[in-house]
Amino acid sequence: MNVSEAILTRKSVRAYLDKPVPAEDLEKIIEAGQWAPNAGEFQISVIRNRKLQKRINDATHDKMVNSGIEFLRQRVSLPGYQPLYGAPMLILLSAPAEAPYSAVNASLAAENMLLQATEMGLGSCYLVSPTLALNDADNGSLAQEAGIPDGCKLQCAVILGYAAAENKYSVGERAKRGTVHYVD
Ligand SMILES: Cc1cc2nc3c(=O)[nH]c(=O)nc-3n(C[C@H](O)[C@H](O)[C@H](O)COP(=O)(O)O)c2cc1C
Repeated sequence: MNVSEAILTRKSVRAYLDKPVPAEDLEKIIEAGQWAPNAGEFQISVIRNRKLQKRINDATHDKMVNSGIEFLRQRVSLPGYQPLYGAPMLILLSAPAEAPYSAVNASLAAENMLLQATEMGLGSCYLVSPTLALNDADNGSLAQEAGIPDGCKLQCAVILGYAAAENKYSVGERAKRGTVHYVD
């Protein structure tokens, strides 16, 4: 698969098989993130521990329920909805809370990972919902267990795994976004 194909094939996968991601694939995906354009430090925490994943999932679920944001409340009220969608691999990207480009650095790394995973036939999804839980003081010890360094904030997350046959919890058809304006 070339880059153009990976860009067109990538989509947000929200249902996964209970099948582990091979270690060598994971390593290559992480490395893809490390090669992204960058203007500052960030950290990649790879959460393979199912129990810890579940605690992060449940804390995120709870914050979504109580977010006061209608879109999030609607999503979380869908039957069986789990914010981490049962993916076998959770990657957290954190970066200094006060640095100006932390979210950009983490997100560029995340997109590289999504494209690399797509090339390898893996499903993936970019998430910000876990930031609701892990950046809240209520969950300070959970964030620490998840390897988020002191002074850093979770910027975004990537989930990975083999896609289940039915991609549940879709938010609509994939479409090109953004307006384009040529200036000659
Ligand atoms: C800033 C941002 C935050 C997102 N957060 C979530 C999230 O928390 N949960 C989720 O399921 N999808 C999340 N997404 C994925 C988008 O819903 C998805 O990319 C969009 O609907 C386009 O669909 P596609 O990725 O299949 O092309 C997020 C995307 C972006 C850019």
